[in-house]
Amino acid sequence: MSTAIERFDDKTRQVFDQIGQTEVYEGELLRHRVYTRFLHWMVALFFFLALFTGFGIYMPWLFRWFTPIFGGGPLSREMHPWFGLGFVIFFGLQTLNWIKPMKWTAADTRWMRNLGKIVGGKEKHDPPDTGFFNAGQKVQFWEIVGGCVVYLITGIILWMGARTFGRWAVAVSYVLHDISALIMLGGIFIHIYLSTIGEPGTFQAIIRGAVSEAWAWTFHPAWYKEVTGRDPIEACEEARRRSGVAGKSTTR
Ligand code: HEM
Repeated sequence: MSTAIERFDDKTRQVFDQIGQTEVYEGELLRHRVYTRFLHWMVALFFFLALFTGFGIYMPWLFRWFTPIFGGGPLSREMHPWFGLGFVIFFGLQTLNWIKPMKWTAADTRWMRNLGKIVGGKEKHDPPDTGFFNAGQKVQFWEIVGGCVVYLITGIILWMGARTFGRWAVAVSYVLHDISALIMLGGIFIHIYLSTIGEPGTFQAIIRGAVSEAWAWTFHPAWYKEVTGRDPIEACEEARRRSGVAGKSTTR
């Protein structure tokens, strides 16, 4: 039996599929539907708006040049909590949308143990049991969920101020708010690198919504097997034979 969240997500995905479209060509697989892509880019937009207005408040002496973009210092300060709220709301919807594929599994624990080899480039393919999202993606996702909770609580305290919550609560909130922002920013740098030049072919997943089969069997072999019913290693070998480049990876 489906839950209220699943029914809400299914319905919204259908509505968005009618508004936008996703072209999946031969040799490609559907990765992210319109609703997921819409949420992702709303999250990214509000994240950067909150980040840039936040920088102006955090270190005005260094980031003074950001504030005129938002109509000056006082207006930046006024808008920052609203941008932050937008970020938390859209990421909240994305959390409901991704809650299933983001569940931690035994395969994720194994992936983490293998991390050294993957980062060191010793493994050309992700472990065969890597599903729709790998453990690294899941860790980042849950870090953002935690960050959103921290932003929401500390953000409201900072917004309402010392008169409502007292000086101590405001002082602690400043520290937690800023630590959370710095951790998330570091993660987002890694995320942008991996989603573009780090793992070629990934960016189109969140732009067009489709990825090549070669990308799927390289980075998410278990997901490839689940959607095509084919063995990822065999599919890769067959593609190599057909293209006559035996011994070379087809994606890197
Ligand atoms: C210009 C900046 C960004 C680019 C190029 C980008 C790119 C991507 C791509 C290509 C994916 C799909 C990965 C896949 O299907 O395996 C993705 C997923 C995701 N994005 Fe972004 N993204 C950006 C900004 C952000 C921001 C600001 C956030 C949140 C603060 C965010 C959070 C996520 C999350 C949680 C996922 C799912 C898990 C993962 O792939 O890490 N992204 N992004």
